[in-house]
Amino acid sequence: MLDIKIQKTASPKKIPAKGEKLGFGHIFTDHMFIMNYTEGKGWHDPRIVPFGDITLSPAAMVLHYGQEMFEGLKAYRGENGEVYLFRPDMNAKRANNSNDRLCIPRIPEEDFVQAVKAVVAVDSDWVPSEEGTSLYIRPFVISTDAHLGVAPSKTYMFIIILSPSGAYYESGLAPVGIWIEDEYVRAVRGGMGFAKTGGNYAASLAAQVKAHDGGYSQALWLDGVERKYIEEVGSMNIAFKISGKVVTPMLNGSILPGITRDSILHLCREWGYEVEERRISVDELIAAAHSGALEEVFGTGTAAVVSPVGKLRYKDDVIEIGGGKIGELTQKLYDELTGIQWGKRPDPYGWRVKVC
Ligand code: COI
Repeated sequence: MLDIKIQKTASPKKIPAKGEKLGFGHIFTDHMFIMNYTEGKGWHDPRIVPFGDITLSPAAMVLHYGQEMFEGLKAYRGENGEVYLFRPDMNAKRANNSNDRLCIPRIPEEDFVQAVKAVVAVDSDWVPSEEGTSLYIRPFVISTDAHLGVAPSKTYMFIIILSPSGAYYESGLAPVGIWIEDEYVRAVRGGMGFAKTGGNYAASLAAQVKAHDGGYSQALWLDGVERKYIEEVGSMNIAFKISGKVVTPMLNGSILPGITRDSILHLCREWGYEVEERRISVDELIAAAHSGALEEVFGTGTAAVVSPVGKLRYKDDVIEIGGGKIGELTQKLYDELTGIQWGKRPDPYGWRVKVC
């Protein structure tokens, strides 16, 4: 159990008013959690302090070699004003899988969850209550040794910042267009595609710029070896409804094991859908689209929640899905998942965790 010291801000900021457009990841709350790691001493000095700049040596290893991991989860305001997290234990586990891959010391899962709960509780007034809004929580670890040799750092900072946010996509729940990238790749097996680390997102930017320039919201990655099998989208996992079955790329080490992905597959199985986690080639997808077997396409992610995809582009082929409307299963999944997250629907799976 962490002994967290709390230093409250002397100059609280204005909390966004009801109805104010929040966007995603622009606004930050009054406080943040920080804990340091020093080799030989372990994680120490857990504290909640006013949100503000941090001081790093320009030689800090994270700035040069990208030894860092991050997580993303949300706090939701329930109907009676209470605040919930959604499966934070899964974020704690995934953080340590990323830490292992990046040679970052593990954070005990219970300490990770305690730290998230503590900082959310301090800034609980910042959890918005309007439909579709939440407090996005960004835990991350950076390597801080001032040293230019390539080696694991001996010191780190674990920080948690909070950002009241609305929908990830500006279009909200309107179907987005996705660009299937055929030039760049994001990750290969044996690489660090499964880890949540900045380098994977840096690797995605060139394709994302291409996608935007082409009029699409995000790029969808193909596998890095054969450039044939569907992997994931820049900020979400992807799933298809093909001839009544739910099909999604299997976790193969190069895609992110999404917590929303896991939750929606669970719901689909509970509802009696046949779910296939397997390799799915872009050719199979295009053929399914042309034959009419491709019924729905949607992305899943903490930030993206359940996002309908209305258009896919692959080379010269542009596939329209669902006539610009959200699919029936996509909508049902969105409603059920957000219903559980916001405390509007029963939570038979024990996914919701009360903060205050
Ligand atoms: C999340 O969904 O929490 C993510 O981390 C995606 C992000 C890169 C916006």
